[in-house]
Amino acid sequence: MNVLVVGGGGREYAIIWKIIRDEGDKNKIYVAPGNGGICDMVDCVDIKAEEIEKLLEFAKDKEIDFTIVGPEVPLSKGIVDLFKENGLKIFGPDKIATQIESSKIFAKDFMSKYGIPTADYIKFNGFETANKYISHLDPPFVVKADGLSAGKGSFVIRYTEDAINIAENLLLKKTLGEAGARIIVESFLKGEEASLLVLLDGKNYRLFLPSQDHKQVFDGDKGLNTGGMGAYAPYKGIDEELLAKIKTDIVEKTIEGFKKEGIDYRGILYVGLMLTENGPYVVEYNARFGDPETQALMPVLKSNLLDLLMSAANGDLGEREIEFYDKYACCVVFASEGYPKAYEKGIEIKGLPYKNSENKLIFHAGTKKIGEKFVTNGGRVLNAIGLGDKLDEAIENAYKITDEVFFGNMHYRTDIGEKGLKYEK
Ligand code: AMP
Ligand code: GLY
Repeated sequence: MNVLVVGGGGREYAIIWKIIRDEGDKNKIYVAPGNGGICDMVDCVDIKAEEIEKLLEFAKDKEIDFTIVGPEVPLSKGIVDLFKENGLKIFGPDKIATQIESSKIFAKDFMSKYGIPTADYIKFNGFETANKYISHLDPPFVVKADGLSAGKGSFVIRYTEDAINIAENLLLKKTLGEAGARIIVESFLKGEEASLLVLLDGKNYRLFLPSQDHKQVFDGDKGLNTGGMGAYAPYKGIDEELLAKIKTDIVEKTIEGFKKEGIDYRGILYVGLMLTENGPYVVEYNARFGDPETQALMPVLKSNLLDLLMSAANGDLGEREIEFYDKYACCVVFASEGYPKAYEKGIEIKGLPYKNSENKLIFHAGTKKIGEKFVTNGGRVLNAIGLGDKLDEAIENAYKITDEVFFGNMHYRTDIGEKGLKYEK
């Protein structure tokens, strides 16, 4: 089969790695645009993920049988609608459905309409009214840009002045452009976060193992929010009883809501959860695989990925099961110092190409190959994945890679997975 993967981060590396692991070289895989490591595995195409018209031309030209979309921007631009209109099979939700991620206001209004637990919120589109409201609000609370901002549009507020500055930046100075032209202010939820990826075929769903991301840039969940600094799976803070509640109160209500809105959701629905004393709440939805959650999930997924994704796209998950190995995976993100703000690129990476072993893997994210060398080419550069029968083993294996692969301005969190250790017997 001819397969096209859209994107070029660690998530897309993990997806391709898994397809090759399942299927060997049965398929001809293309990726647009890919990254230094992906281009060593499969054929990279010089088209950006956002250039959906060019991707369509490419897919027609190469007779692509199935396209898998990684990132949110092409989904929100309507790549799925465009491919389907042209008779091409593609995995991901259509443009209308992607609003669940591309507009936080759409998502919050949807949740309040269908009784899905989420933090209380108020929406604003003008600075004056927002300022008046925020000035009288006691922190902590959260300010969020409505639109897509690569994980950098949500701010947990400790001091009122910061909130006013952020609202001014977003609403008046338009620092995030149209994405910040509307904001929401929501109440702070206290608890532990977990990510639940749900595979949907329009009617049926299958759950991936729960996982846990680490959004903040520094140890102890300090510093700015990022796209994600590391993740591990499975996350054991969700027991059977809690999972049953999440299924009925959140997953099934969401699917019911989609049906009532006439949304035929086929793809991954990523549910970002806050597990509070008062039960599970939805922090956010994403319309795609999480990054870096996918890098922890693919190595523990036993089922054939391509079969699952094609069944979801065809609307026939039916009896197809999703199975996992009885293993843990921990993914530590090696980032460029400075990220999620400005950082230097083009720094040589030592220790690549890395020879993966059974329990230690490297997945490339923001890398570029120049001659025989690899250099940094993004904020999140590499994913070091450790596997183990126990979580502590998986963590230890991931961190062993820091001695083997590194670059000049490398920054990584040293506490990925620690929160999960208390659930281990
Ligand atoms: P979001 O962009 O909505 O995913 O938010 C990014 C991160 O900000 C989340 O993963 C949380 O760590 C934090 N966050 C967002 N909303 C809340 C909330 N209502 N209460 C506490 N933390 C939050
Ligand atoms: N890991 C968070 C995200 O994919 O948005």
